[in-house]
Amino acid sequence: MAELEIPESPLEGADPLAVTKRTQAGAAVPEEEEMERAAATMARKLFNKRAPIYDFLFRKLIDFAPVFRDFFYDRDLLTSDMKVLDAGAGTGLLTRVLYPMAREKGLSNITFHAFDLTQAMLDVFDDWIRKEGAEEAVSTRVQDVLHLETLPEAWGDYDLVVTVAMLEYIPRRSLHKAVAGLLGRLKPGGKMVLFLSGRTPLMRFFLGWLWRSNLYTRPELDVVFAKAGATNVEYLPFPVGRPYLTRGGYMLVVETTRPLE
Ligand SMILES: C[S@@+](CC[C@H](N)C(=O)[O-])C[C@H]1O[C@@H](n2cnc3c(N)ncnc32)[C@H](O)[C@@H]1O
Repeated sequence: MAELEIPESPLEGADPLAVTKRTQAGAAVPEEEEMERAAATMARKLFNKRAPIYDFLFRKLIDFAPVFRDFFYDRDLLTSDMKVLDAGAGTGLLTRVLYPMAREKGLSNITFHAFDLTQAMLDVFDDWIRKEGAEEAVSTRVQDVLHLETLPEAWGDYDLVVTVAMLEYIPRRSLHKAVAGLLGRLKPGGKMVLFLSGRTPLMRFFLGWLWRSNLYTRPELDVVFAKAGATNVEYLPFPVGRPYLTRGGYMLVVETTRPLE
């Protein structure tokens, strides 16, 4: 079968499913799958090597926890008796904000699930879970967001799915699949909040180059969310004190709700 040309922008052009390549064994596999595998291998290598430095940089040196704490206090997204999924949780930055917040607010019976591709990142998170004595409430597992069909059945029906700076490691042309997969894990009426890195000169250097992230603009994400079948898509500003993060395009915060059936 003749190989089709892959368009420069993965968000436009030919149907990616039509693009195939021969494996050594001769079977035709979608080139998209190969890109997904390569991206996963790259991300796993990067974060296995850099887990301690990541934790130091983004929790100790530049402490992002207050940014997320303010955001979630402002939106009031946590309630008792809910199930929360932190997708691409890494060292647990977000759950480590949400879990104590739930306790502070006197909320009860919240189950936190968190997955990530990289064991070394989860090791840091698991240490925290043990120290906090949060084993009953917080569970982690190694998981690729592009293969959510391998999740246990109990890992579904979420009231809230959150993800921070993980989708940047999915090949651009597969991003809609990851978003659709996560949406599918929400219960009807459930919400998903995604934090994605925006494409600005500073972010190109700091995250794009140093941390190998894909960066996005709002029009690009509009296409991705439409392809993923997301409805009720809303771009949110950061609350008072840090509006520059979203206003300056450094971070894109997207909230989407799964419609009630
Ligand atoms: C920049 S870190 C963000 C971690 C965490 N969300 C935080 O805010 O600190 C990106 C994380 O995405 C994970 N990741 C990359 N590709 C993934 C995939 N296909 N499925 C699940 N996790 C993935 C990496 O292992 C890494 O831990």
